[in-house]
Amino acid sequence: MDKEKSDFPKGRALTPHDEEFLKNRQQIYDQIRLSAPKFKDDEYGRTLLTKFRDVESILKCPSFSVRAQFSEKDSYMRNLAATGLDSNKRQTAYEPPLVLLDDPDHRRVRQLITKFFTPKAVEKMRDPIIKIASDLLDKVDGKKSMDLITDYAAPLSTLVILKMLGLPEDSVSNMRKWSEDILMGYDPERTSDARKKIRTGYIEMSNTFKENIQSTVVKEKPSLMSAMLEAKEQKGLLSDLEIISLCTQLMVAGNVTTSDLIGNGFYALLNSPGSLELLNKNPELLENAVEEMLRFDCPISETGRIAQEDTLLDNHRIKSHETVTASLSAANHDPEKFSNPHQFRLDRSKNDHIAFGTGIHLCLGAALARLESQLAFKELLTKYPRICLSHQKPPIRRTLPFFSGFTSLTVQLSE
Ligand code: HEM
Repeated sequence: MDKEKSDFPKGRALTPHDEEFLKNRQQIYDQIRLSAPKFKDDEYGRTLLTKFRDVESILKCPSFSVRAQFSEKDSYMRNLAATGLDSNKRQTAYEPPLVLLDDPDHRRVRQLITKFFTPKAVEKMRDPIIKIASDLLDKVDGKKSMDLITDYAAPLSTLVILKMLGLPEDSVSNMRKWSEDILMGYDPERTSDARKKIRTGYIEMSNTFKENIQSTVVKEKPSLMSAMLEAKEQKGLLSDLEIISLCTQLMVAGNVTTSDLIGNGFYALLNSPGSLELLNKNPELLENAVEEMLRFDCPISETGRIAQEDTLLDNHRIKSHETVTASLSAANHDPEKFSNPHQFRLDRSKNDHIAFGTGIHLCLGAALARLESQLAFKELLTKYPRICLSHQKPPIRRTLPFFSGFTSLTVQLSE
């Protein structure tokens, strides 16, 4: 093996737990992409893909599975699959969520809820989203600063999912907390304390959904919850466990990712000289801006697949049962695909990024996430066009693999 490759970081050092990686992720990916685009990380038992075209091929390839049980023992995927729950005790509904189902189960479940996530269906959420955003901004009226994540982006995205599900708002802060705890399940470095939190997060979130299924709390019709209940009761198409599991996934996938997009996007915008002014002067650039935010610092930085058979990827053999990490973050900065990829450009014209994945698991909530973040920025920047990052409180980034975002981002609110 040549020296350069053996010097690349592996295992933990190739995750945001490592300070160097957290600071220089794209520079590290650039070096790896250049000399080892199919990089064998034997510490974590996986092959890391950093080229756009490799990432795209794997996500579209039907012989790659999302089910951890096909992966080698001690592999990255097997390690991540643990939820800390004992399914024999039926503590909760750990039916695999949509994103961890292969076809045909995946197709059956996805078909049932797709209609709620089309751009046309999501458009109905426009007014509720504007109301949620402006109510949250009203709460910080008169304040000099706020935490963009905890005061705005996080409650906004959680309230939007609750609204779509047709559930009451009172669980908003618990839902957010449990979601953050559940994310630690995607961390191969999780501690025993984290394991406990993951378990509690799953159990409490599931119990809340279970109570809602059983009670008459689901008042809003048509809502996602009412449609899922109908699919269960009238057509026998979904089980209770699948409904709870879907709700959990929609809650976790929908709230943390979207608030991360708002936080990461805001940070990129403010760190790119002249961009905020450009956007304020040209609000028609907002759609473009959100696409560039998705590309530049994507909230789901990587995803995993397992080979079900020996597969050739560009003459490189991936063995059956091998785990592959497809880095969406590295793919979105591949210079073969994007010119000047490390530059944040509001006017980037060809922005065919892969932040929402591709293939059968292409993000179901993409249209919702786009609308929500465009409106969140519109409301925020209309009220506070001269908003800026706080110099007193430094931003704090989450240090997990997979879910990339800030847990705290203090901003100064000058009108
Ligand atoms: C900026 C926000 C978001 C980003 C960056 C994002 C990203 C992604 C990505 C990359 C995947 C594919 C994962 C894979 O292939 O392994 C995915 C799947 C998924 N996302 Fe999102 N997502 C976002 C928001 C949402 C929202 C708002 C919802 C719903 C409320 C949602 C629901 C889902 C679901 C259900 C899947 C699984 C789809 C399937 O397996 O067929 N996402 N998302």
